[in-house]
Amino acid sequence: MRPLRGPSRAGRLLRELGIGTALAAAAAGCGRGGPPASLGERVYERDCASCHGAAGDGAGPAAAFLDPRPRDFRAGRLRYHSGPPGSVPSDADLERVVLRGIPGTAMPGSRWMSEEERRAVVQRVKAFSARFREESPRPPAAVPPDPWADPWADPWGRAHDAAVARGRALYHARGGCADCHPSYLTDPPGDRKRDTKDEDGSLLLPPDFLRQRLKVADTPEGLWRAISWGVGGTAMPAVPEGLSEGEVWALVHYVRSLGRERTRRLWRPGGTG
Ligand code: HEC
Ligand code: HEC
Repeated sequence: MRPLRGPSRAGRLLRELGIGTALAAAAAGCGRGGPPASLGERVYERDCASCHGAAGDGAGPAAAFLDPRPRDFRAGRLRYHSGPPGSVPSDADLERVVLRGIPGTAMPGSRWMSEEERRAVVQRVKAFSARFREESPRPPAAVPPDPWADPWADPWGRAHDAAVARGRALYHARGGCADCHPSYLTDPPGDRKRDTKDEDGSLLLPPDFLRQRLKVADTPEGLWRAISWGVGGTAMPAVPEGLSEGEVWALVHYVRSLGRERTRRLWRPGGTG
């Protein structure tokens, strides 16, 4: 009988070339279950466990030194996603967080990581929580169009200036934003609320938009969602009743203008931000 040499020879050859596992992972990646957990486990162990803990409990060896603390993945309560409030994040949301990191916290970006590794590690993170088996992410809720349509293309900046002025007024009055975030009616800005905690009990202060980069609301749409719905698991509330969708857009313009002011100050000679 002729021995069935074909497949094993091919397999040996692939192994010798060192591409067997990559191919297997790529092949599995085409299926519905994503790449094999083993790749995700390896990446997780290598790049995430020191902070998020080998068991995904947010208690890795480095965690005690960090503020805010690394997320505990077991409950599956993740904050930065594009779905409606309470939704589990989609794979795309998680991949984005892992790619970009979370500015102003210890959570690093991973632009150097291969896409395959990033996808695999996201599946590993999901496997820590039963929520991802029981629920599916709800689709990103639609963001209404900006009524100050495309002010970035408005050469005189009139629509933009009007939106910023409206947002500034709302922020300091009816929006209630300055109850927690600093007030910018004075220079230097007023103090922010100093005792806001997240659901894990760690101190998580409202950002000062003249000093801090936004964590995830780095697009106008992302900002609109964060302001409309709040950030689940933190003190950041949904916008007060009675503010219209257009007024939320005005707040978006205002917060973005503070971000631009921050960058301008950083680049000013001798500026400290
Ligand atoms: C140096 C420590 C550190 C490392 C390493 C690290 N993280 Fe994080 N991670 C954090 C911290 C701190 C937070 C919480 C930030 C916050 O609450 O704003 C976080 C938050 C997260 C979140 C939560 C996002 C949400 O929506 O709530 C995810 C997902 C995450 N990390 C995945 C990973 C993955 C995957 C890796 C490895 C590739 C990793 N992290 C490596 C510190 C780390
Ligand atoms: C009760 C306190 C409180 C009020 C009121 C409040 N915020 Fe926040 N806000 C927070 C906290 C705390 C965070 C930090 C959340 C985090 O780090 O995940 C935050 C975060 C944010 C972010 C950052 C999202 C990111 O990606 O980094 C924006 C933008 C924001 N708030 C805008 C507003 C606006 C506009 C208002 C008024 C309509 C407002 N907030 C009212 C407490 C508050």
